[in-house]
Amino acid sequence: MIAIHVLNGPNLNLLGRREPGIYGHVSLADIEARLSERAREAGVALTFRQTNSEGELVTLVQEAGLSGAGLVLNAGAYTHTSIALRDAIAGSGAVCVEVHLSNVHAREPFRHHSMIAPVCRGVICGFGSRSYELGFDALLAILREEKATTDDV
Ligand code: DQA
Repeated sequence: MIAIHVLNGPNLNLLGRREPGIYGHVSLADIEARLSERAREAGVALTFRQTNSEGELVTLVQEAGLSGAGLVLNAGAYTHTSIALRDAIAGSGAVCVEVHLSNVHAREPFRHHSMIAPVCRGVICGFGSRSYELGFDALLAILREEKATTDDV
């Protein structure tokens, strides 16, 4: 069974009441509910987590990668700062899609650079809570393709 871990970094627990003009009114629990439904329909085992701690996020990324699960990652502000997170993705071999609710390229210059993008398969940003669903679908397509290739061997 394909497994997908959706990991959320700092301050994403505040979604729904955090700067709604930028991040919208949808809560993280709403996003989890939508993805759970999608995962159920697709026959995917979903793990959904949030942490404000960089070290814990590193551990969760390692766990996803080492277990062979795909990863949808909204690393929040650590996206722009964390070499440790980049190393965790690369080091654990996680197949990772980076997602953001906001269009980080239309915001402050310090949000334009991502430490993790070079070790992710792709980046989805700017579609609000839909970024998660788009990220989930893109990752699932990649994992299914790769599974089909491996099964052929
Ligand atoms: C974010 C964008 C980051 O720049 C910011 O620090 C966040 C949320 C997003 O989903 O738009 O916490 O990752």
